[in-house]
Amino acid sequence: MRYKKYFRKTSLKQKGVGDFFLSEIAQKKPKTFLEVGVFHGVTARNVCELLYSIHGNDFNYIGLDLFEEKDETINEVIPNTKFKNPLKTIYFNYIKRLDPYSIEGVEDLLKKFKNNVSLIKGNSNTILKKIDMSKIDYVFLDGGHDYLTVMNDLDCCNEVLINNGIILCDDYDLSYAPGVKQAIDEFTIANKLKCQIICNDRFAKIEKN
Ligand SMILES: C[S@@+](CC[C@H](N)C(=O)[O-])C[C@H]1O[C@@H](n2cnc3c(N)ncnc32)[C@H](O)[C@@H]1O
Repeated sequence: MRYKKYFRKTSLKQKGVGDFFLSEIAQKKPKTFLEVGVFHGVTARNVCELLYSIHGNDFNYIGLDLFEEKDETINEVIPNTKFKNPLKTIYFNYIKRLDPYSIEGVEDLLKKFKNNVSLIKGNSNTILKKIDMSKIDYVFLDGGHDYLTVMNDLDCCNEVLINNGIILCDDYDLSYAPGVKQAIDEFTIANKLKCQIICNDRFAKIEKN
């Protein structure tokens, strides 16, 4: 399946990266997928299309995001939510009248899968501790890029790995967010996990050894 952009912004925009990402998910065929860092929901929609093509309606997607740019996100790298393309600005501001970086905006993009999707607005540092990880078999970690946040997110999702699931982390080796690599390296060594760096150092794929 090809990765589509749905006239929105996504961090998987670089040529071939989205397709690579979907081929990774397709290998594992997860039934319950968690994405930390939903942004405009483009990856969410692609994942739902893929899981629908594999399982029909028998899948779940859970997405978590701050959906806001406030003080508490001061240490976080929030992608620019403004469009460079003026047509997209006009489309969302005057035709759709919807902010694509909002829970309502993402719900709109995912409405085809509304019975499979749960979206949560909040900070992963508080929300992940409350999520039942026992059914989740795939995590795409692409939320906060601060060392402590990535460490928190990995710790909270450790049960997924114990149950033979996968955590795929984006932005493993970003020069302006070195905390991602540091947290992943420390977490995988401390827990004796298998960690493969794939797609030209873009993703860290973590699983049980
Ligand atoms: C790189 S974007 C995610 C891109 C998205 N996964 C995609 O493929 O298009 C990172 C997102 O993480 C969110 N975020 C940052 N820190 C967070 C936190 N502590 N908890 C939850 N979401 C967070 C930001 O609001 C932003 O939307």
